[in-house]
Amino acid sequence: MSYTTLLAENNQGILLVTINRPDKLNALNKDVFNDLDELLKEVYSNSQIQSVIITGAGSKAFVAGADITEFGNLTIEEGMQLAKRGQAIFDRIENSPKPIIACVNGFALGGGCELAMACHFRIASENAKFGQPEVNLGLIPGYGGTQRLAQLIGKGRAIELLISGSMIDAATAHQYGLVNYVVPQEELLNKATTILQNINSKAPLAVAACIKAANAVWNETQNGYQEEINLFGNCFATEDMKEGTSAFLQKRKANFIGK
Ligand code: COA
Repeated sequence: MSYTTLLAENNQGILLVTINRPDKLNALNKDVFNDLDELLKEVYSNSQIQSVIITGAGSKAFVAGADITEFGNLTIEEGMQLAKRGQAIFDRIENSPKPIIACVNGFALGGGCELAMACHFRIASENAKFGQPEVNLGLIPGYGGTQRLAQLIGKGRAIELLISGSMIDAATAHQYGLVNYVVPQEELLNKATTILQNINSKAPLAVAACIKAANAVWNETQNGYQEEINLFGNCFATEDMKEGTSAFLQKRKANFIGK
């Protein structure tokens, strides 16, 4: 795996992905989206990858937004295409069968906040700042931000953030439920790794099914309860379900194989 704008390192099944444009505060340009596209193919298909951490290079920013220099002179149609591509890539993060978590190590603004929100959950360092400042540019979020912000923190808080363009600090993001934990910056990756090591010891197909069922809440084409029934039923055809229940009854640790 080799990318222009991303660093990717597999540490015992946990893929650490660093968006690596620190001089531009890791802003999301076309190259980053192309690399994320390739990266997600790898995440979905490579059995050596069990889970993923996404973070930003440097100590200042996770991602300070879409790259504003690419916004000049777009037509309506081109603007729509840009949003469509961003949404398609972020949807694949959200629907990844393998957990993808964001380690937000500084500014998560605009597309950066949207990227973090597409991840399954978020851990922030104490210096993190979140916001959707697009209104300052005469724009709105285009990569799912208007939808996911309301899902994660509720409509009133979301609309206030969207229409004011204000930033919130890590403590407020925690209070709002936007992030699960706030830790000192030097602890950020350790915290994420500890959480993922625990998740990686669980039955992978069951983990994937939990993500799929929970995502169905917001999928208008699906009935989430029916989706849960189907996914619950499917578990009974897996070797891991037999292993998990046998291990419990035999008072031993389960050894899951992802089948
Ligand atoms: N797109 C393109 N370049 C960006 C960027 C973005 N979203 N965010 C930061 N950068 C660039 C700056 O232009 C600057 O580049 P330069 O050194 O070549 O001039 C570099 O990153 C450092 O940013 P700078 O603004 O000097 O840092 P700061 O500490 O003064 O301010 C921010 C930090 C995050 C408050 C500020 O960079 C900012 O407001 N960025 C834009 C946020 C935004 O509107 N995002 C939504 C985009 S839709």
